[in-house]
Amino acid sequence: MSKSINLIKSLNNNLDFNIVLTGFMGCGKTTVGKFLASKIGYKVFDTDIFIENKTGLTVSNIFKIYGENHFRSLEKICIKNLSFFSQIIISTGGGSILDNDNEKNLKRNGKIFFLDASLPTIISRLKSDFSRPLLKNKDFEKKLFYKRKDIYLTTADFIVDANRSIEQICKDIISKIKIIEK
Ligand code: S3P
Repeated sequence: MSKSINLIKSLNNNLDFNIVLTGFMGCGKTTVGKFLASKIGYKVFDTDIFIENKTGLTVSNIFKIYGENHFRSLEKICIKNLSFFSQIIISTGGGSILDNDNEKNLKRNGKIFFLDASLPTIISRLKSDFSRPLLKNKDFEKKLFYKRKDIYLTTADFIVDANRSIEQICKDIISKIKIIEK
């Protein structure tokens, strides 16, 4: 049996916490969440997709029709509900960890992995993405990025360099999980 299969097997047997992915828009939370789920056999929940499925509206339309505050209250309910599960991956929306209640709920039985991507990486990943209501222009994006960076860092249990391939990022997360297990 290969080393990586052994690793995955032992994760499934022993972990009792959620894996929470945080970070700025475009850092790769959704893609990493799906890939990681396929590697370790956990279910993945993406808070934005969860909210979109529940409301039948895109995040962008929720912002447009009801405003950001309404989106944040839906996000809060979603995170509270997900925090009652265990052994799942939660890909959070980029603004969710800024809220104290969300932080508390996510940390209750989850470890926070901050996907730390640089501003150039994020700008390049989002250059043809117009689905995010908060990304109005480059200047605003830059300000928001630096305003939030400290919060992502201080709320994280683990910081993961997200300027790499999805495979490398997941490998790094799995090796960090192994440290918790010990
Ligand atoms: C937001 C990030 C988005 C989404 C919403 C607000 C934010 O999710 O939740 O547009 O405040 O950073 P992603 O981080 O998945 O883009």
